[in-house]
Amino acid sequence: MNKNRDTPIEISPETFRKIGYQLVDAVAHFLDTLPDKRVTPGESPQHLKKIIGHVSLPDQGRAPDELLAHAATLLFDHSLFNGHPKFLGYITSSAAPLGALADLLAATVNPNVGAQILSPMATAIEKQTVQWLAELIGVSPEYGGILVSGGNMANFTAFLAARTAKAPKNIKEEGISGASSKLIVYCSKTTHTWIEKASHLFGLGTHSIRWIPTDDAQKMDNALLEQAIQNDLQKGYQPIMVIGTAGDVSTGAVDDLEGIAAICKTYQLWFHVDGAYGIPAAISPAQKPLFKGIEEADSIALDPHKWLYCPLEAGCTLVKDPNHLIETFSSHPVYYNFSNKDEAVSQNYYEYGLQNSRGFRALKVWLTLQQVGRKGYIQLIEEDIQLAKLLFDLAKAHPELEAITHHLSITTLRYVPSERLRPTDQRETYLNTLNQALLNTLQQGGEVFLSNAIVAGKYCLRGCIVNFRTSKKDIEEIIDIIVREGKKMHQKLIS
Ligand SMILES: Cc1ncc(COP(=O)(O)O)c(C=O)c1O
Repeated sequence: MNKNRDTPIEISPETFRKIGYQLVDAVAHFLDTLPDKRVTPGESPQHLKKIIGHVSLPDQGRAPDELLAHAATLLFDHSLFNGHPKFLGYITSSAAPLGALADLLAATVNPNVGAQILSPMATAIEKQTVQWLAELIGVSPEYGGILVSGGNMANFTAFLAARTAKAPKNIKEEGISGASSKLIVYCSKTTHTWIEKASHLFGLGTHSIRWIPTDDAQKMDNALLEQAIQNDLQKGYQPIMVIGTAGDVSTGAVDDLEGIAAICKTYQLWFHVDGAYGIPAAISPAQKPLFKGIEEADSIALDPHKWLYCPLEAGCTLVKDPNHLIETFSSHPVYYNFSNKDEAVSQNYYEYGLQNSRGFRALKVWLTLQQVGRKGYIQLIEEDIQLAKLLFDLAKAHPELEAITHHLSITTLRYVPSERLRPTDQRETYLNTLNQALLNTLQQGGEVFLSNAIVAGKYCLRGCIVNFRTSKKDIEEIIDIIVREGKKMHQKLIS
């Protein structure tokens, strides 16, 4: 601490220790009592605005102890807790508690992981983290890459590398408009919305996406994929990449990646795998065959903040030949003195992705990977899959529930009243209305948090278990809650 300057921002070591210990005590208590809380208080934005008050930016600073204590109360009393055992919504995992401490440490040292010289140890840790993620999913440790904020960014980073590799070589100077033929990308209809954002933002336009239909098992139909590529070639378009999904966002289905890899080889296309959610399951010997073909991928997106249970934000792009990232993102402004004589071992992450200044998100991933280890991840991921299967089986056995799909750790189901419904044409419409209303009630109720999926036109409740706190008992209780609330909602709608 600089004793020669009195500033309104520095905190004395005594105060830091005091308020830091108080916060850690509050966090430990929060984690301990999490299962007894409601998943969400379900408060309205207006109510929350009232709680934090309509005040302007304060002129005068305030003591950090009262500020921190107040912030902790606000967050512990008025948040949705994705770390709750009955949170099965979207794909947001319970976060490893070690990650919270890692973020404290990372923010304290505050390395800028854009350049090696600014972050010597943090860069070394990020490099090892990337290499371990490649090992974890079972591809060659020669894959290189970068940590990013999440799945969208991981896929964008790969998309841009593919565009550089496959578009005309003068794309950096001429842009997409310089391409003599339209660039086309291929993905299944179930692909996450990032592909629309990427096509729009990076100049191809959404009409360049070929949405390939899926089969009954929600996998991309590879015969239709090949047909679409041939049609485009005949029209004089330029196919550049195919996106295979390893765990689709709605149902968790994994495409036939080996088949897609073969098609990409035949037509010399970039093969990208969006494994943001599902690819960590490749660590399980039982699930590994499902992911055959990933070792052929030119690029892979995966999210430690999903099924590796790291706190938000942590995504990762892996690229078979990391030089594609450098060709895409590197620049050498005169004000950067980042080159290193020892180029072979130095790595400046600003050359690997969209950011220049970068935080140390690798630390929480690096520590969690070591805390859990390969065996621990196999256990956690296989248990999550078994719990999703239990949810499916219990729904299947229940007279008022219909089990729809189960892939990896995602199950879709719906409530179907036991009494006879109206004629078939109106039945599906009514069940969709009923289940949508039921989901809204459940999400606001605070007992359980599920999300939704549309499968073959059916509005489904969707449980995604990327949650090391969820138990068999939680799943059984969730079934009871769905049925209880489903009955109530049906009575309300017909009365
Ligand atoms: C398959 C898939 N890809 C990409 C994403 C986007 O990830 P993020 O929300 O971290 O940007 C998701 C999110 O659920 C996903 O499931």
